[in-house]
Amino acid sequence: MSIYEKKLKNSTIESIFASSNSEIELPKYKMPKKESDPRVILEVIKDELFLDGNARQNLATFCQTFEEKEVRELMDLCINKNMIDKDEYPQTASIEERCVNILADLWNSPIEKNAVGTSTVGSSEACMLGGLAMYYRWKDKRKKEGKSFDSPNLVSGPVQVCWEKFARYWDIELRQIPMEKDSFGLTKESMLKYVDENTIGVVTTLGLTFTGEYEPVEELSKALDELEKEKGLNLDIHVDGASGGFLAPFCAPELKWDFRNERVKSISASGHKFGLAPLGCGWVLWRDKKDLPERLIFHVNYLGGDMPVFQLNFSRPAGQVISQYYQFLRLGFEGYKKIQMNCYKTAEYLVKKIEEFGIFKMIYSGEPDKGIPALTWYLKEDANVNFNLYDFADKLRSRGWQVPAYSLPANAETIVVQRILVRQGVGLDLASLLIEDFKRTLEFFKTHRILDNLTEKEAGSFNHSGK
Ligand SMILES: Cc1ncc(COP(=O)(O)O)c(C=O)c1O
Repeated sequence: MSIYEKKLKNSTIESIFASSNSEIELPKYKMPKKESDPRVILEVIKDELFLDGNARQNLATFCQTFEEKEVRELMDLCINKNMIDKDEYPQTASIEERCVNILADLWNSPIEKNAVGTSTVGSSEACMLGGLAMYYRWKDKRKKEGKSFDSPNLVSGPVQVCWEKFARYWDIELRQIPMEKDSFGLTKESMLKYVDENTIGVVTTLGLTFTGEYEPVEELSKALDELEKEKGLNLDIHVDGASGGFLAPFCAPELKWDFRNERVKSISASGHKFGLAPLGCGWVLWRDKKDLPERLIFHVNYLGGDMPVFQLNFSRPAGQVISQYYQFLRLGFEGYKKIQMNCYKTAEYLVKKIEEFGIFKMIYSGEPDKGIPALTWYLKEDANVNFNLYDFADKLRSRGWQVPAYSLPANAETIVVQRILVRQGVGLDLASLLIEDFKRTLEFFKTHRILDNLTEKEAGSFNHSGK
């Protein structure tokens, strides 16, 4: 019997921390031979988890970190429901369908009922599916025209790593248009330089991961209309609305980013970001049945209906989708709008306060019609300080805040920025406490010399771009 097993023996009546059982180091490489007291194991694992950051102070993530207790109850209830098993859980499947229809309405789909779409694990899977459908549509068209289809390319602005994955996994050339120092997203001029007859489509992002800004979908769509008129090249758009898909409908309804543009054939979004569902929920919808090539669909029949199954994964928990439906009903349009607008208000407050320090320059300030509730800034060249943004981020971390600093992608890689994502739960009070810590940090750097500034690698902060 190992020391570990001896220590865990007969522990059930002992108080957890009075017992010698709590005096163990958890095994890291081999499974123990015997069972253990669940109380002790639970406690010791919980204690290890204290070493993780506090999710609510993580201002790097786009994902939800606040859940109402009702969501926890639904997640608990659904712990054993498998989303893919439409036959055993037809009601869950029906709820998924309702969510797809609600989103179709929100995104101005021309289909009023029975919209085409599915839930996914997150935006990455949703983007892969949107990309795959785009690829097969292009391939089918080329085949029909008797043209070659062996060198497909995809045109985009600076995208999240999921599109790089998509391109690499399916052997498609990704023409990711570089950023410029004064322009961070896709513009019609840059897009038109990169598209050709081998382009499977254009990806536009509603809420760039690096800055938070929206790319101008309507303008890009119109530019492609002109291109078609001039050169006969008919190109589709997929909107990666990971964050913006759940923001623009409520906070910038006049912005035509969605199916109102005929060229937009598919839209993906993260339920677990501004969709307010717990982690593990994404969505992808197509404009029309014909935009999702039939051979990519597997049909599952349940309750006499027909459920198109089109996911990369098979088994998947159902709780996230149920919770998404709960949020749609519990909040309604007004509730979503109030929560999202409060995030924009907090962002506005933070922009004002951070600008007051005089040394930071905003490159994106979180306006509802321009992007998501985020703010991104750099250190002014004439700031005359001894720290860089990596040092600043590192010091803020000592108070629990994660405010990532990172360099922008090519060709703006010399610009180092810092970004705050304002989500549900990052309210004005929390924001004011963050500003107090900004002040403390600035004071600290005034009185402490830095011998060597940190590098991006050493600061190692997570910015959600996957790069
Ligand atoms: C624009 C964009 N697309 C896709 C993703 C990937 O989303 P997920 O983490 O839900 O897979 C992200 C993540 O931040 C993103 O910002």
